[in-house]
Amino acid sequence: MPISGPGRFITIEGGEGAGKSTQLGLLAARLKLEVKNAGVVETREPNGPIRNLLVQGDRSWTPMAEALLHFAARAEHLEETVRPSLAEGLWVLCDRFADSTMAYQGYAQELGRDRVEALYEMVVGELKPDLTLILDIPVAIGLDRAMRRDITETRYERMGRAFHETLRTAFHDIAAREPERCVVIDANGPVETVHEAIWAAVKDRLNVE
Ligand code: TMP
Repeated sequence: MPISGPGRFITIEGGEGAGKSTQLGLLAARLKLEVKNAGVVETREPNGPIRNLLVQGDRSWTPMAEALLHFAARAEHLEETVRPSLAEGLWVLCDRFADSTMAYQGYAQELGRDRVEALYEMVVGELKPDLTLILDIPVAIGLDRAMRRDITETRYERMGRAFHETLRTAFHDIAAREPERCVVIDANGPVETVHEAIWAAVKDRLNVE
């Protein structure tokens, strides 16, 4: 039986190689185990046909065009997956969301906070994640992990060390501006330790018994 009432929207954010997808899978399993009747949807951004334009090859978009592509993919994803699932009372766990656009395009590609905020208002509107977990890892360790793991989706990984250092600072800044929504998790440790830190944050912030 599905839980009644509105669902919960949790986003997982961070730089490259922080272990987001592994942790998302572990969190989904934990929720199913520990929260009675929890229905869980695992999803990610960017998704659909726009993803390949952004993560493969080495085409250079203007920062605005790039942000628009991410928001175009997001508009589809919101209507097809996120909003209907939340309306059904499901837990939606999303690997990256709009904080990635703020960090990557807004800060690191220098589009600016104001423009990303304006796009957010237009495309996403009032909806905000109930909780955003920001996985933090030193840039060199994350990039090393990411490059070992994937040899095709490397467009962002190849953007250089300074770009990725800016991203890390950006995610800290985003968390500091919205402490009620965001929790920074130290992701530079064993998978199980990181998972327990995430679970503690979920229980604490979302009143899971
Ligand atoms: P992933 O590797 O976590 O699946 O994400 C794909 C890449 O897209 C990652 O390098 C971050 C980047 N990205 C942005 O630049 N802006 C965004 O809005 C999103 C969602 C992802």
